[in-house]
Amino acid sequence: MGNLDLMPRDSFGSKLGVIAAAAGSAVGLGNIWRFPYVTGQNGGGAFLLIYLMFILAIGFPVMLAELTIGRRAQRNALGSFRKLAPGKPWYMVGMMGIVAAFMILAFYSTIAGWTLEYLVQAVTNSFDGKTAGELKTSFEKFQGGTFRPLVWQVVFMFLTGYIVFSGVKNGIEKYTKILMPVLLLLIIVICIRSLTLPGAKEGLVFLFKPDFSKITWPVILDALGQAAFSLSIGMGTLITYGSYIQKDNNLPVTALQVSATDTIIAILAGVMIFPAVFAFNIDPAEGFGLVFIVLPNIFEQMAGGYFFGILFFILLAIAALTSTVSVLEVVVAYFSEELKMTRHRATIIAAVAITFVGLFATLSFGPLSGFKILDRTIFGWFDFLSANILLPLGAIFIVVFVGWVLGKKNVREELSNDGTVKLPLLNIFMWIIKLVAPLAIAMVFIYGLGLIG
Ligand code: TRP
Repeated sequence: MGNLDLMPRDSFGSKLGVIAAAAGSAVGLGNIWRFPYVTGQNGGGAFLLIYLMFILAIGFPVMLAELTIGRRAQRNALGSFRKLAPGKPWYMVGMMGIVAAFMILAFYSTIAGWTLEYLVQAVTNSFDGKTAGELKTSFEKFQGGTFRPLVWQVVFMFLTGYIVFSGVKNGIEKYTKILMPVLLLLIIVICIRSLTLPGAKEGLVFLFKPDFSKITWPVILDALGQAAFSLSIGMGTLITYGSYIQKDNNLPVTALQVSATDTIIAILAGVMIFPAVFAFNIDPAEGFGLVFIVLPNIFEQMAGGYFFGILFFILLAIAALTSTVSVLEVVVAYFSEELKMTRHRATIIAAVAITFVGLFATLSFGPLSGFKILDRTIFGWFDFLSANILLPLGAIFIVVFVGWVLGKKNVREELSNDGTVKLPLLNIFMWIIKLVAPLAIAMVFIYGLGLIG
């Protein structure tokens, strides 16, 4: 595989491009769809607090660890482990990441497809004049269908494939840079409308006032899973993106900016959704459909709601797209570097295979909704298994690898960029990734799944 070193690798063009691409990966449906639904199901404030603790104490260090692996090795998620620990079984962590990527994209593209349906509904002014109850019914009718949700999923996967096809710099970097700030602005505008609805205060209380009686181990596991999912950590997305980052980039600062951006957008999504949830008498524990039921209600109550609705669903679809691209890129980078396929061939094979698996996730809201294993649908299992099992497990292996195998000397070398970046917190970072993070994740995992006690 030595010849790989001679091949020029695609890379991100600028510092801003790196942040835009990594933040583009992190910010997506995880923030705007998943965060509110999981927070709603887990009782609000106390969940948020635990989530924030996990972002800071585990999420950020894991993100930095992943970027370190990727930039050091200059390889895909699996090849990186192979290169840094030749002849050892660490590449299995990369393998697990590929499996997680398949599973995430399979169900993520279902919801991403919903954003396209809602874009069309916004354009055709279909929310107008409907009561909260009618908006819920029309959502359920769409979701429970067969043809439309499947078509949208396929369309979305096609778009994802198209961007990955075009390569890292031209495809991924170009779009994210402009659109992310616009999304942020629009969310703030919608927050203001939501906050000024009658009865909005109750939503803020729900989101920000911790009620610790709601906290159980499964709730804590959900918080960990959501933190990992939202930051795009634990499956090699950031190893892969790290491998495209130039050697003079300040990785700790990049990781900090990306995790801060992601967290701010998740909290703002909460501020956008929960006041409206209470104002419109919607159950915060509604589940997968929560934001799709709440948002049209807000647009209906908003001056310029027609316009804002369209703009929002365009931006949401794009935010989802910059995330799906980063997941597909993990598989494509692996196929093309390790299995020696051309980038085009790798993209087609991966996208088609994932779309096929994804169809079952989509159908589990319709014809397959009765098919449940232990009370979860196929969609529910993909969601749960990837976020709550594969990502935390991946995160443990990643930090243990960086902490114990790569070791402090290599980490310092990689993060200091030939001594130009000062690393005053290196010892704390090493301590967290060697001990604190692995033990904390393992504990949450064991108790959250009820393996002990
Ligand atoms: N973080 C993205 C979101 O919030 C989804 C995502 C992209 C992801 N890449 C990932 C999740 C890698 C886990 C792992 O929408």
